[in-house]
Amino acid sequence: MEKIVIEGGHRLEGTVTVSGAKNAALPILISALLTDGWNTFHNVPDLRDTRTIKRLLGDLGAKVESSGSVVKINAGGLNNYEAPYDLVRTMRASVLVLGPLLARLGRARVSLPGGCAIGARPINLHLRGLEELGVFISLEHGYIEAHASSLKGADIYFDIVTVTGTENLMMAAVLAKGVTTLRNAAREPEVVALADALNRMGARITGVGTPVITISGVEALKPISYHVIPDRIEAGTFMVAAAVTSGNIKIVGCEPNHNRALIHKLQQAGITVEQESDGLRVVGTEAICGVDVKTLPYPGFPTDMQAQLMVLMCVANGLSVISETIFENRFIHVSELQRMGADITVSGSAAVVRGGRRLTGAPVMATDLRASASLIIAGLAAEGTTEVSRVYHIDRGYECIEKKLALLGGHLWRTQA
Ligand code: EPU
Repeated sequence: MEKIVIEGGHRLEGTVTVSGAKNAALPILISALLTDGWNTFHNVPDLRDTRTIKRLLGDLGAKVESSGSVVKINAGGLNNYEAPYDLVRTMRASVLVLGPLLARLGRARVSLPGGCAIGARPINLHLRGLEELGVFISLEHGYIEAHASSLKGADIYFDIVTVTGTENLMMAAVLAKGVTTLRNAAREPEVVALADALNRMGARITGVGTPVITISGVEALKPISYHVIPDRIEAGTFMVAAAVTSGNIKIVGCEPNHNRALIHKLQQAGITVEQESDGLRVVGTEAICGVDVKTLPYPGFPTDMQAQLMVLMCVANGLSVISETIFENRFIHVSELQRMGADITVSGSAAVVRGGRRLTGAPVMATDLRASASLIIAGLAAEGTTEVSRVYHIDRGYECIEKKLALLGGHLWRTQA
């Protein structure tokens, strides 16, 4: 098993380029199932999760060809409707095949994802929405068995804002008969990107980026060439890495408008974040102030940046309260950060961080994707050496993170544990 070793205490300086967004690439690659013929997707990050999706699409009968960040998919030969346990268990986003399989084949058999490290993460809202479109669903032997003779547009209300729930329903509804309305829909940039890709395929979706999305079903979709949006969470991770090391970096290829909540919080903490003609400049300071943060659906502060921001709060002056409202168990990084000297108390869904601590390097264990990113950032800020084990978590969602940070002057490398 591999680990990442970090010698802390080095300022980050220079320029870093952001990769394509994992959480946009996954549903967009899956959307190819809705078409016959070759789709070409550009700026697809090479990650464990995108490789898993390509494998799943291949298993379903699609032809998949990859070259660098370009992925071509032809689902003309779609002939299988099962997403097996082995794949779904390693990547929950596999449940996104439900919508397209039902739209194309009228049938899907998808392993029910279990709980995961950050929370129970049920998919009841995906299933209820599909039932409202006319799908019959039963749960047999750990699998969702779903079938429909045809999908019919419906008025669907989500009790909770759900990103992949909105995406799954959108992909099911594009080929349904009549009009579907999704209320309390997710507004994340990744949802907007998926709708944009679907509309280029010939779908008729309006209202994306608002809580009410309307989808008028069409007969068929055609293949497209599409460029995946930049990863706002990767960009945000670099912003915080620069901030904790009192660094001065430029991030190119990112979309600052997707990161407004984070930028606002960083500026409130005293970090300089400025738009330049060719990128975003982030300049740290010795005098970081503690700020309170509450995670919320977009355009609120992203839960996927909570762990990283917590590291900044550990080295900031004063107290900060971080409230996690999206996932019930997303403070698992806290005990690892405590091993590095952080002073954090968790009470229910809030973490109180007493800042101004000197972090010291320690062996720590990655427990999920974003927690791993926070431990690497903590290692960059800490005195001495940090060893982050179980780095397979980070490979799910960051492309060569240690190499990109090393190019910025961080002292870190990957080695066998
Ligand atoms: N929820 C339900 N029922 C459902 C669906 C969701 O109760 O049917 C709950 C969840 O348990 C959670 C909340 O609703 O408490 C929001 O979950 P959501 O469905 O929005 O999360 P997701 O779609 O499973 C995506 C991202 C996550 C990101 C969340 C929130 C993808 C592939 N994953 O997950 O990304 O944290 O939205 O923004 O898009 C990551 O990249 O590290 C990651 C975990």
